[in-house]
Amino acid sequence: DDSTRELLLSRIRDVPDYPKPGVRFKDITPLLADPKAFTALTDALAELSVRHGATKIVGLEARGFILAAPVAVRAGIGFIPVRKAGKLPGATLSQAYDLEYGSAEVEVHAEDLQEGDRVIVIDDVLATGGTAGASVELVRRAGAEVVAVAVLLELGFLGGRDRLEPHLLGAPLEALIKV
Ligand code: PRP
Ligand code: MG
Repeated sequence: DDSTRELLLSRIRDVPDYPKPGVRFKDITPLLADPKAFTALTDALAELSVRHGATKIVGLEARGFILAAPVAVRAGIGFIPVRKAGKLPGATLSQAYDLEYGSAEVEVHAEDLQEGDRVIVIDDVLATGGTAGASVELVRRAGAEVVAVAVLLELGFLGGRDRLEPHLLGAPLEALIKV
């Protein structure tokens, strides 16, 4: 609700000129340090996960892990990590995506997701949508269905929603806060 959104927004710190001049970084560490805000966030994302009938929670390294893990525990749903390339020891699927300069790659353990799994993908921030889009493709290639993508914060001015949209195949993008 609105009071939850206000609380969450009040605990996100704007850091000017980080990581480079002209960029305003959204720092969620004050929110994580405030148990009332972190609990409210966890509850809101767990409620979304249950509402969408998720059977697996996929969290995106690294900041997405911090949010998705307590949500999985709260909702009583298994947690699956999507990691940056080269970190998972088992048989993986990989998905590359373009960055402003260069490219990046994310991976998941292939055996962690199966046909019939209903996955909610959780991350802290949707910026250009590249990370979320690649992760959605990864989940689907593993055989599972993406039922929603949920983020704490959508940076609307970067157009991530439009970039993500073709990957969603109709699944909703749920942003608790949009700026
Ligand atoms: C940040 C953020 C999202 C992603 C959003 O992660 O946590 O995962 O960028 O950007 P996009 O929508 O343009 O893909 P980052 O890779 O900077 O690192 P971290 O989560 O490991 O700190
Ligand atoms: Mg991240």
